[in-house]
Amino acid sequence: MYHLNLDTQEFLRHHWQKKPLFIKGAFADFLDPIEPDELAGLATEESVSSRLVIQQEGQWRSESGPVTDFEPLGDCGWQLLVQAVNHLEPAASELAACFRFLPDWRFDDLMASFAAPGGGVGPHIDNYDVFIIQGQGQRRWQVGDRGEHKPRKGSGALALVEDFEPLLDVEMAPGDLLYIPPGYPHCGQTLTPSLSYSVGFRAPSQQELLCQLADQLQDTNQGQQRFTSDSEPRQASLISADHQQGLLSLMAKLISDPTTLRPMLGTLLSQNRFELDPLPPQTPLELPQLIDALDQGVEIVRIGGLKVVHLEGDRPGSLYLDGHHWLLNTQALALPLREQARLGSGTLSPLLSDKEDSATLLEFINLGYWYLE
Ligand code: SIN
Ligand code: CO
Repeated sequence: MYHLNLDTQEFLRHHWQKKPLFIKGAFADFLDPIEPDELAGLATEESVSSRLVIQQEGQWRSESGPVTDFEPLGDCGWQLLVQAVNHLEPAASELAACFRFLPDWRFDDLMASFAAPGGGVGPHIDNYDVFIIQGQGQRRWQVGDRGEHKPRKGSGALALVEDFEPLLDVEMAPGDLLYIPPGYPHCGQTLTPSLSYSVGFRAPSQQELLCQLADQLQDTNQGQQRFTSDSEPRQASLISADHQQGLLSLMAKLISDPTTLRPMLGTLLSQNRFELDPLPPQTPLELPQLIDALDQGVEIVRIGGLKVVHLEGDRPGSLYLDGHHWLLNTQALALPLREQARLGSGTLSPLLSDKEDSATLLEFINLGYWYLE
């Protein structure tokens, strides 16, 4: 449904994580994956993460959702932002899939936003990579250089920065794409009522990684080895460089052991920051029903936002999804489940003769991670 006109190898070499890029007409004949009314509907839901940013006389103010009353906002100076629309709207999930030339584990979500003329979130800096796709309407985007940028006084939780000298100053129309790496200040201003989509990529911090490791060690009661030494410092008050090195090695040995590292990374990196929307069948599906459905042309479709990842070097049938580890008998089923968002009888039927794998697949469907379509 969506095709991204981008030389991905060239992009990865020269722009990804390095410098901004604007591409006019990156999506030909772009169709919005969601309409403004539907977006407003999602914003009324408790389970959906949304916010409003209102701009008045050069000041920005944010209100977190749910947003139920749009009447008082009028027709200018505001923007509605809804996170993880790809979890809820299959077309938004298809749009996000255009960016799978980057690994799934790095993907965060697709945020959709509606902005009235004059609306925007103000000049700010993100610590993640973002691709901004313009849907209906027009917005002007300015992107400044990395470096020191003063916090904007009075911007509070919005953490805005002072105005900056733009490196890039573009007017975006439907289908245009703007890529902004972390650290570059940017600001969007809305010219005509607009829908836009921010496809965000995030990387874990040392803090997140080490907290995950600590949780896992506690849960599995691992990491019990203690420090030993064969020499002691002369000064009783000293923690010698030798001992520091030994203590560090004790930690490094644990982290560099793949049997500790892989489950830690698999668990952390298959989770989502935003709630998933599982779609379990009303009554649990059984194998004969699945076989029948596939024979009739039904496909199984992965719910939006579900990450199915595998760690290189791990057992071929091993995969992590939604923070949990699963072991399939063969890679024959594990690989298409990881790589493809929808699967039909051509791929699945020959694999269902494996009793354990077909039971696992049914479990995935009955948990609502894949649904029949
Ligand atoms: C916006 O659409 O104005 C916010 C997106 C962003 O700045 O990352
Ligand atoms: Co931003």
